[in-house]
Amino acid sequence: MVVFILLLLVIAVFLYFKHAHGYWKRLGVPQLQPSFPFGDMKNPILRKQNMGDKIKEVYDHARSKNYDYIGLYFFSRKAFLPVNPELIKNILVKDFHHFSDRGIHYDEVNDPLSAHLFSIAGTKWKNLRAKLTPAYSPVKLNGMFNIVRCCAEEMVQLVSEESEKKADIEIKEILARYSTDVIGCCAFGLDCNTMRDPQAEFRLMGKRAFTQTVGDLLKMVVIRSFPSLARLLGFGVFPDNVTSFFRGVVKETIEYREKNNVERKDFMQLLVALKRNGSLEAGSNLNENESDLGKALTMDEAAAQAFIFFLAGFETTSTTTSYSLFEMAKNSAIQKRVRDEILTTLKKYDGKLTYDGLMELKYLDQVIGETLRKYPPAPVFLRVCTERYTVPGTKTTIEKGQTVLIPCLGLQRDPEYFPDPETFDPERFSDDNKGRIVDGTYIPFGAGPRNCFFMRFAMIQAKTALALYLLKFDFSLSGRTQLPLKMETKGIILAPVGGLWIHFKQRA
Ligand code: HEM
Repeated sequence: MVVFILLLLVIAVFLYFKHAHGYWKRLGVPQLQPSFPFGDMKNPILRKQNMGDKIKEVYDHARSKNYDYIGLYFFSRKAFLPVNPELIKNILVKDFHHFSDRGIHYDEVNDPLSAHLFSIAGTKWKNLRAKLTPAYSPVKLNGMFNIVRCCAEEMVQLVSEESEKKADIEIKEILARYSTDVIGCCAFGLDCNTMRDPQAEFRLMGKRAFTQTVGDLLKMVVIRSFPSLARLLGFGVFPDNVTSFFRGVVKETIEYREKNNVERKDFMQLLVALKRNGSLEAGSNLNENESDLGKALTMDEAAAQAFIFFLAGFETTSTTTSYSLFEMAKNSAIQKRVRDEILTTLKKYDGKLTYDGLMELKYLDQVIGETLRKYPPAPVFLRVCTERYTVPGTKTTIEKGQTVLIPCLGLQRDPEYFPDPETFDPERFSDDNKGRIVDGTYIPFGAGPRNCFFMRFAMIQAKTALALYLLKFDFSLSGRTQLPLKMETKGIILAPVGGLWIHFKQRA
């Protein structure tokens, strides 16, 4: 009897998947050949393939068949993958009101850190983004630049000392520490100096937030598949010790600054103002008709916005800076041209790296732009359909709740839009050439109202580090870097197996 029931159960599950895997076909949307039970992914439990690479593979397949879009399956879950840049632009920008959220789980009660700008939805997101927007003004960024430069100087000093002791240095780890210090200083108001103390609690907690144990993975399965049950059980996305550490840091800092009237030119100061007033410039950006726009942030809301610096800013900026160094280490002509530009610009500013000087470094901008093309830190990103949508010029409809994947890596390495895509060529972004880039094909920071909120800050952080490296060192690629680069299969970010090793030589 038990065997019979089990057999029925297996048949029922199989038939369920068979039906689920026919969804796109029934709609007339092209699909691959999903297999039971994983769908279109190669065993996602063993993580045999990087998600970015997989989506690029599907993108390339769809392009080879001249499709404008294709349907995918992850187990029984469906995803829509637009391939045509015009359609992608419509989804991200023109028809944004149909795709205004990401459909990421957050739970303000059990897991307050999960309710940050990246995950929250609807009016709440719109109001919070409007509230935080003044954080973005050139004056505020200029204020933060000095903090960033101090962290970069500390990093270059350490590399200088290390390079005297050993020939080659793995830069991804060093840049991860730099990112941690910038985030610690700018978002949490701490002087954590993980550059000199890699075991600092801030770094360890940050690392823990990015590491997934088997227990974490199982919790995520429940959270994704049964969000209401996860809420009932009080399951959080992050481990309890990580949540209480970051909440504690923000609480202590805000209370300290409020009690002692301490002011600093960092992001935390903006959160202190929002917690006090609900706006950064009294009376500005407020629209009385929008329910909670003028409301002050709670302590937990402030903590979640500081935490997003960690989640969204940590790996993205450090990998971009690492790949820029890697490409310049391989190409001494590009390296020399950027260095010459920096040296010429610095002469105008008494030999000092200033915010205004940094903004003038056009070729360095091109180098980072090309790095972001070849190695977009978010090779694929998401939207969820928030209002039923008919793909223009077709009868295909995307239903409310449907996940949409944006194939950033596929587009940016498509030879039709970027000829010879494997070649690193900053000239693609020169004044003469950048106008030729097809709209919707270059989207490393996303596009539309939900694009990367701190894109300019990320550029400042990367440019400052690169400028200081170029001033201090001549550098070349170490034989310890495994070529061609092979990407880690875990996670979404394109992280090279074995790291990136560079040989640094101090300039006279
Ligand atoms: C090179 C570095 C970075 C890259 C390539 C990058 C890329 C992205 C991308 C692709 C998105 C999704 C855009 C979309 O859905 O249209 C995004 C969103 C976001 N990023 Fe970044 N990011 C970077 C650095 C940062 C940093 C340093 C921070 C914070 C300090 C940050 C904060 C955010 C936030 C808050 C969002 C969500 C915005 C919203 O939903 O309103 N990012 N980023």
